[in-house]
Amino acid sequence: MTVHFIGAGPGAADLITLRGRDLLAACPVCLYAGSIVPTALLAHCPPGARLVDTASLDLEAIEAEFLRAHQAGQDVARLHSGDLSVWSAVAEQTRRLRRLGIPYTLTPGVPAFAGAAAALGQELTVPRVAQSLVLTRISGRASAMPPGETLEAFAATGATLAIHLAIHALDSVVARLTPFYGADCPVAVVVRASWPDERVLRGTLADIAAIMAAAPAERTALILVGPALTAEDFSESALYSTDYVRRFRGGGQEGGGPA
Ligand SMILES: C[S@@+](CC[C@H](N)C(=O)[O-])C[C@H]1O[C@@H](n2cnc3c(N)ncnc32)[C@H](O)[C@@H]1O
Repeated sequence: MTVHFIGAGPGAADLITLRGRDLLAACPVCLYAGSIVPTALLAHCPPGARLVDTASLDLEAIEAEFLRAHQAGQDVARLHSGDLSVWSAVAEQTRRLRRLGIPYTLTPGVPAFAGAAAALGQELTVPRVAQSLVLTRISGRASAMPPGETLEAFAATGATLAIHLAIHALDSVVARLTPFYGADCPVAVVVRASWPDERVLRGTLADIAAIMAAAPAERTALILVGPALTAEDFSESALYSTDYVRRFRGGGQEGGGPA
């Protein structure tokens, strides 16, 4: 018996991986966070599967579900939104499974920031403008930020920021970032990326709060900040230039990635 943690993707039911879909189809038990995971994914579960919405369960109750399935010899599909590697609460569940001696696997999913970039129709790293993407959040009721991981510290780098779990505090985010990026820095808010009611709002640090106030968003929204969001006048990566000798063109150069 194994617990299979599966990244469900940002919303659209066809953004799950083939591996994730096949695991869903093979497991007689599925635990899913009904508040954020698309319930259309449950159609992949086998007929008669035990489907448990964990939205209202605490960790003890989730552990009890794992134990029940373990005693019954039934594999479990455990669906979480986006990818499992960030803000998925997988860490505390796998720690309990290790203590219980229950085996588990992790299958990645499309994270919210990737869904948001697709909604924007653009790359979040742009040559010489921003070559780093910071996935971060602000302190919330459930967990405080470690002292060194401040918006100000990340903003000092000038990187593109993807700020999660923060739409309710947009005014504060704007106030904290403006001294670093400037009031004319582009901002995009992507609401429910890849869901049928996806929305994209674009502005600057100066006006994004007013733009959002005119079209309020609920919590499933990502704030993206940085000059890469509107960069047009950037130099092209050398990767596809005609005189760039790549390893696979016989140049023998190490690496093979973009210069
Ligand atoms: C608990 S975190 C989950 C992150 C997820 N594990 C991932 O891989 O992106 C929830 C936050 O992710 C962001 N988020 C999740 N899905 C989103 C979507 N479809 N569109 C925009 N933001 C989303 C929002 O900021 C939301 O508050």
